[in-house]
Amino acid sequence: MKNRINTKLASILVAGMLATSAVSAQEGATSQDEALTTLVEQGEQLFIDYCAVCHGDNGEGGAGPALLKNAKVESRSALVFQILFGATDHGMPPFASVLTDEEIAAIATYVRNSWDNEYGIVLARSVEMRRPAQPESEGEAEATTN
Ligand code: HEC
Repeated sequence: MKNRINTKLASILVAGMLATSAVSAQEGATSQDEALTTLVEQGEQLFIDYCAVCHGDNGEGGAGPALLKNAKVESRSALVFQILFGATDHGMPPFASVLTDEEIAAIATYVRNSWDNEYGIVLARSVEMRRPAQPESEGEAEATTN
């Protein structure tokens, strides 16, 4: 009796898993999707706080260019560089010492997957590996209070 219930339960679970995998193709894709969703949620408020003043609430642009269908947003490395180092000669501040790797990853993932953009996830380690080697320099004290 107990076995039969377990068998039934197992077949229901298998059916559920098959249904899920049909949608997401594979389990790896599922966890990647979940990570992306989490980063997009975290990134939204950070974008509003740090970027929207120049790039618009919906990435439509303002003092800075539109981030919708933007080649620099499509390129993961160009986007991470832009956020880390800004364009100090052209009116965008650098965020390397303002935001953590996780925060930049969240903002980058939000920008790449909002509005009509569908460019995929940016992980914190992609930010970390693009940071400059940290010399003893001014701003260092600020950077480490994060
Ligand atoms: C004070 C205004 C300002 C803020 C704040 C700002 N930006 Fe910018 N951003 C600019 C300007 C101006 C440019 C154009 C720089 C240039 O022409 O080289 C730019 C360029 C960019 C670009 C490259 C776009 C292109 O077409 O070349 C990206 C991507 C970007 N910003 C993302 C961000 C993100 C993400 C944030 C928040 C972390 C942010 N910016 C915050 C002003 C700003």
